[in-house]
Amino acid sequence: MKKILNNTVLVFALSFALSSCGGNSEKESTAAQSAAATVEAEPVKPVEPEMSNVLALEGNDQMQYNQTEFKIAAGRSVTLTLKHTGTLEKNAMGHNFVLLKQGTDMNAFAKKAMEAKDNDYIPKSESASVIAHTKLLGGGESDTITFTVTEKGTYDFICSFPGHISMMKGKLIVE
Ligand code: CO
Repeated sequence: MKKILNNTVLVFALSFALSSCGGNSEKESTAAQSAAATVEAEPVKPVEPEMSNVLALEGNDQMQYNQTEFKIAAGRSVTLTLKHTGTLEKNAMGHNFVLLKQGTDMNAFAKKAMEAKDNDYIPKSESASVIAHTKLLGGGESDTITFTVTEKGTYDFICSFPGHISMMKGKLIVE
């Protein structure tokens, strides 16, 4: 299997080289080598979050966010859109985005949130710990919020729906 793959790469590289520069054979083999190297090096690329002031986050019916890390600039207004891509109702699979101040015990916060169903699981007693939050969403819904974080550092964000913090949490890095 590996040999077949290598041959395929070589054939591709050679045809590329031949079509791009029909010159002397030394030039062709150099082009073939670099083309082959490019083909082999391409697939593995770790995804690092890029700094942005427009953030898009999704939650699904499997109790997951599609992203767990964002990077933003300190003191700059940021727009975040949370979209629930599933179909379940918010009573069963509700999702929100709650950005917590540094030093907040997110598990203690989530515990308090469980008792705040009447306020979409944002506990009023803990409002001093919340920098920003979206509405609680059910399948197909979305909400967009705008906020600014002035202090550099790493901040936790969670879904405060009961039980979801175990799977739905992430980091907002402010630089
Ligand atoms: Co959730």
